[in-house]
Amino acid sequence: MLWLALAWLGLAAESRGQTVHAIADMFKPLASPASAVRDLSYLVFAICGAIFVVVASLLTYALIRFRRRAHLDDSEPPQVYGSNQIEIAWTVIPVLIVFVLTMTTARVIAALQDKPQPANAVQVTVIGHQWWWEFRYPGLDVVTANEMHIPVSTRANERPSFLTLESADVAHSFWVPQLAGKTDVIPNRANHMWLDPHETGIYYGNCAEYCGTQHANMLIRVVVDSAEDFDKWLAHQKQPAAADASAPAARAAFFGLACVTCHTVKGTRAIGAFGPDLTHLMSRGTLASGMIPNTPETLRSWVNDPQVIKPGSLMPAMQLTDQELAQVIAYLTTLQ
Ligand code: CUA
Repeated sequence: MLWLALAWLGLAAESRGQTVHAIADMFKPLASPASAVRDLSYLVFAICGAIFVVVASLLTYALIRFRRRAHLDDSEPPQVYGSNQIEIAWTVIPVLIVFVLTMTTARVIAALQDKPQPANAVQVTVIGHQWWWEFRYPGLDVVTANEMHIPVSTRANERPSFLTLESADVAHSFWVPQLAGKTDVIPNRANHMWLDPHETGIYYGNCAEYCGTQHANMLIRVVVDSAEDFDKWLAHQKQPAAADASAPAARAAFFGLACVTCHTVKGTRAIGAFGPDLTHLMSRGTLASGMIPNTPETLRSWVNDPQVIKPGSLMPAMQLTDQELAQVIAYLTTLQ
């Protein structure tokens, strides 16, 4: 527990000077899909609220006006059988209300689903895993994990990002409340959504579909860069891992261990696809899908025993000796 408390304190250091939109509040949207959903929810809430007020008022009135009174006799009041006017009213009014709700909802859904993809759109394939996120940039040879970078999309310079969502195992759901509604991530199926964040900064999100032990720690960070910063980030991520001539022993130790069967380090013989791509590990602000800040110290604790930090994580404790652990960390920290 102390460990987690320290980790949370450390997350403040994760932002690296960027604005952190940490409120994850769907009522403060900063992208068109989230605004559309928010506006629709206000309309639905207003209509349902009006119905509640009318029904509750009539009920309260009837309870008070027609309550039992001592001075009246106990005989039944006059009974009314059938009224065409009342029956038409309570049929037509609800039908109209349902019609309005259906049409406005369908219009928002259609507008979001049929958004045409402009030529400059950024494509990202999002793959949900137990319990982390993989982000692939097709055609660009860029693969990263847990922190998705996309460019800002302003009115003057629109550049939306179109996501294809897939699952490597069970059902997940991708939700960054300030950017868009939830989209389910389903095995053997590709779902689609798009985002056009209006402000740069880091946006927080969560997996929103229960997917096992560490569902609650399957956190999402969307880093929205300026156009220049995004292109810089892409160019850096495209590079293979830095050749690390300074510590050949550390490198040899890493490649002698089973790490390479699950992880990829681009440009090396590590081509495992089960765990997160490590090519530019140290360029990411957090570890364990956003749970803890990414520093050499936290990385050491994570590699030493992931189960302490994230019980149930599919990464095993490798039972490394102190020397092996030091060498693995020395190598991993070169992956800038
Ligand atoms: Cu993935 Cu819940």
